[in-house]
Amino acid sequence: MCESVIDCVPFAMLRPEKLSNTVYAMPCPAMLTPMDADSVDLIITSPPYAERRKKAYGGIPADKYAEWFLPISAELLRVLKPTGSFVLNIKESVDDGERQTYVYELVLALRKQGWLWVDEFIWHKTNPFPTGSKKRLKDGFERCYHFAKTKKFKFFPDAVKQKSTSKWAEDNKRRKNKGAHSTTNGSGMNMSRRIVGDLVRPSNVVTMPSSSINIDHPAVFPQALPEFFIKLMTQPGDLILDPFMGSGTTALVARSVGRRYDGVERSEDYLRLVAERLARTPLSRNGHKVCETNNRKR
Ligand SMILES: C[S@@+](CC[C@H](N)C(=O)[O-])C[C@H]1O[C@@H](n2cnc3c(N)ncnc32)[C@H](O)[C@@H]1O
Repeated sequence: MCESVIDCVPFAMLRPEKLSNTVYAMPCPAMLTPMDADSVDLIITSPPYAERRKKAYGGIPADKYAEWFLPISAELLRVLKPTGSFVLNIKESVDDGERQTYVYELVLALRKQGWLWVDEFIWHKTNPFPTGSKKRLKDGFERCYHFAKTKKFKFFPDAVKQKSTSKWAEDNKRRKNKGAHSTTNGSGMNMSRRIVGDLVRPSNVVTMPSSSINIDHPAVFPQALPEFFIKLMTQPGDLILDPFMGSGTTALVARSVGRRYDGVERSEDYLRLVAERLARTPLSRNGHKVCETNNRKR
């Protein structure tokens, strides 16, 4: 079980035996080079968007985005196990009134690099921010692209079952009373066991609010997002890597569900934040509960 508080180690102090439960203070891809091939079960990350937050992240020009990302994804492909998955959370920004295309270009480039593009998930946000544009609605979703190295990637949909909101069974009872009872829907699918409140496998639209936690990072994952993919694609003890660790949400969640984690983050300020978050978020006795508060330790 991963109970240690984070280690933030500079490259010079890198010890191969420490390649777990560690967040490394170096930019990708350099920091990924010492990691073992075929060692990671799930990579989940949200890299900086093109041209956004130049001060904080350096700002990558949109037309150079794939070129910038490919040396990093080459290392990710190397360190991922054949049974592993790579979940890339990203959304094209808008420039001069036009949605950019660099994410589409990146997906095509990743396929050429050897990645299998398995699926895309929509993260439907229940609390989208206004865009400030009269010609654009609130941006209510982001994508999470699911890539794998082989078709043998691990997948556990029963681990993320959710309460059904389907009213089919209820509605069907009413139809039955009118003598029009059927156990199939229009396309012939058996719906007789769809009852409101039953646990069912979710769809690839994941609905959750953005993070409302008050910390010094501009783009924090809601904890439920990495938790969903970690449970869907890994087992206890597996190793999760976030190569753009930011404030450390992936590490925090991985630890809370009994997985190991590694991370890379180039900003020392954010690394300090990761250490603070992990230190002030104790594991419960069974080691399976994150209870992060909004109180900052100063
Ligand atoms: C969108 S944020 C990730 C936020 C994270 N998901 C969280 O929950 O806090 C992207 C992070 O990548 C870091 N970053 C940018 N370029 C990097 C690089 N080449 N190597 C490592 N980290 C980098 C930035 O400092 C930033 O914290």
